[in-house]
Amino acid sequence: MKKSILILLVALFVLPTTKADEGMWLLPLLKQQKFAEMQALGLKLQDFDIYDPESASLKDGVVIFGGGCTGEVVSPDGLVLTNHHCGYGQIQQHSTVEHDYLTDGFWAMSREQELPNPGLTVTFIDQIEEVTDYVKKELEKETDPNSMNFLSPKYLNGLAAEKVGEQFLQSNPGTSVEIRAFYGGNKYYMFTKKTYSDVRLVGAPPSSIGKFGADTDNWMWPRHTGDFSVFRIYADAHGNPAAYSETNVPLRPKRWFKISLKGVEENDFAMIIGFPGRTNKYYTSWEVAERRDIDNTVRINIRELRQQAMLEEMLKDPKIRIQYSSKYAGSTNAYKNAIGTNWAIDKRSFEQVKKEEQDKLIAWANKMNKPEYSKALNTLEQIVSDRKDLRFRNWVLDEALARGIEFVRVPTNIQPLVDALQKKDKTVQQEQLLLFEKGYQRFADKDYAIAVDKKISKVLLKEYRRLIPINAQPSYFNVIDQKFKGNVDLFIEHLFDKSIFGSDDNFNRFKAKPSVKALQEDPMILFAKAVMDERNTLTKAIADFDTGYSIAHRTYVKGLLEMYQEKANFPDANSSIRLTYGQVKGYEPRDCDYYGHQTTLEGVMEKEDPNNWEFVVPDKLKALYKAQDYGPYKLSNGKMPVAFCATTHTTGGNSGSPVLNANGELIGINFDRNWEGVGGDIQYLPDYQRSIIVDIRYVLFVIDKYAGASYLLKEMELMNQ
Ligand code: ARG
Ligand code: GLU
Repeated sequence: MKKSILILLVALFVLPTTKADEGMWLLPLLKQQKFAEMQALGLKLQDFDIYDPESASLKDGVVIFGGGCTGEVVSPDGLVLTNHHCGYGQIQQHSTVEHDYLTDGFWAMSREQELPNPGLTVTFIDQIEEVTDYVKKELEKETDPNSMNFLSPKYLNGLAAEKVGEQFLQSNPGTSVEIRAFYGGNKYYMFTKKTYSDVRLVGAPPSSIGKFGADTDNWMWPRHTGDFSVFRIYADAHGNPAAYSETNVPLRPKRWFKISLKGVEENDFAMIIGFPGRTNKYYTSWEVAERRDIDNTVRINIRELRQQAMLEEMLKDPKIRIQYSSKYAGSTNAYKNAIGTNWAIDKRSFEQVKKEEQDKLIAWANKMNKPEYSKALNTLEQIVSDRKDLRFRNWVLDEALARGIEFVRVPTNIQPLVDALQKKDKTVQQEQLLLFEKGYQRFADKDYAIAVDKKISKVLLKEYRRLIPINAQPSYFNVIDQKFKGNVDLFIEHLFDKSIFGSDDNFNRFKAKPSVKALQEDPMILFAKAVMDERNTLTKAIADFDTGYSIAHRTYVKGLLEMYQEKANFPDANSSIRLTYGQVKGYEPRDCDYYGHQTTLEGVMEKEDPNNWEFVVPDKLKALYKAQDYGPYKLSNGKMPVAFCATTHTTGGNSGSPVLNANGELIGINFDRNWEGVGGDIQYLPDYQRSIIVDIRYVLFVIDKYAGASYLLKEMELMNQ
């Protein structure tokens, strides 16, 4: 007891800037930065159990799953767990009307039934090496003072390939190397990665479990979602990555997680290893205000309009409701995040917090006679002020028109077809028409409804024209005033009436009799081109600020590192492997209200609403609930656990991450954060921020009792003690 208090006190004094549980720590620095604190909080492992550059450790059981998620290996036969929302695309791909795996779930009852997923990969991190000196030496050869190479993935990965050599990469199939910038380009680490591309779907619960609560509950605690899915990694006979082949065999991984059946108590130690995508801990106060007043405010305003229009149509027509449910979900995900972030910025005075940090640096820099740090701050303030208008225009354009309206994705590259028509080159003409048809079908697919796109585009184009001064709008928009007396509704109707992409009929008529004139005068193509050109113009104009910004940001972070010593700080998330630790804990969302740390099946039944697709409970789950048939997975009070929350510091990309107890055993799968905690991407919120985690016992219960796939549990190592 005394010893741990001492360690805690020491920790508090040595590490002035990090509060309890804050941080997404780099594995190679864990030992020197955080290990003592982790042990004081209850961790029973040694540092090398978690990360060992020489041999297998916990980190070797964690994988990058697909494009932006994390997964964990849970058996010696390459079984992988991740979230339902991470495997969603694959589950959807395999679904048909006859076999609707999204609705009904899917379970392979033998290895032969596991389903291949072209394009899906799983990546292990084999080696991590600090290469700051090497990269800085190379960067010194740079002559252009405005070069952005110090942050350029292309340049840095080139350096990585040079460092290890062509020979190494060729003799190790599936292996790649990359160098990533940390602390804004003050430090560099090289990662050697191994990517497997034969990853098969083993099982997924029905959406009524895996997506229970859907958008209403998204970013919310208390939560009752069984957000998990099961995959398996396959390799060639030597265990090497290989493209899908029937002869491939399940991977024998270096490491897999043991699974704890013991469950969690409030205040238990918990840690998460995963691939957090992006945070902005090193924002200055001006960037905090910019994020709130421009980025988030525009996003909230525009998406509110878009979602309202979408929802009206969805509620009118069940077909449209199904077509647009995923688009609606995608829209609300970032929208809710923006609201939560702005709430935290104000409620927790983020501007003030960052300003205090800046002022501290200025005072220290003055004392140390290092004027470059104050200068960097002045530069950042100036840039944020200078880019204000451009940034606003860009965000409005992006949210309202470029992303908001579906038909701006019509094919706009008409020249090859125009040429072919003029030259009467039938072959090229056919090829080009086919491209147009594909482009048309890409947005006007089975989930597209003209009525919705029309309604949304009318609302959003009006909002765009209200927010952006007329002389800053694309010049093509003049036709709205000149030909339609400013009436946006008429203009949009006209686009759909006249464009070859306005309807299937229009397109088929054009296909039967393509003409140069129809292409060149097509109002939808002209509109889409105007939007895309404007987007390119704005992106370029903003890029002019990016260089100055990135250089000043690097200097600012360098100052903080020097002042605090690197020990006390973690670098912003950049999709590299990190560890966060904390405790299982509930929280007080508002005065005199308290949320516990663990949800149960009782809560699922409380939320049940057979008339609302988001809260339908499958019959079989109800039967298990009625019979209290929970097997060894229940709590000591007899209830069935579903999810729990912890003070760990996570962000997007951490979805699917393994949540581990003090012994390094799997206790859950991370899948979300509470909306009160999303501001933690800028400043960690110890009293509010919680990772939302599906309890591993619920996962096992669904596999075993609900799906009857208990054979899968036989390959796992379940720990009762
Ligand atoms: N909020 C979680 C994350 O940021 C889950 C998103 C998927 N779920 C949903 N209902 N849209 O990505
Ligand atoms: N759902 C997020 C993801 O897909 C994780 C939630 C968060 O941002 O913390 O990565």
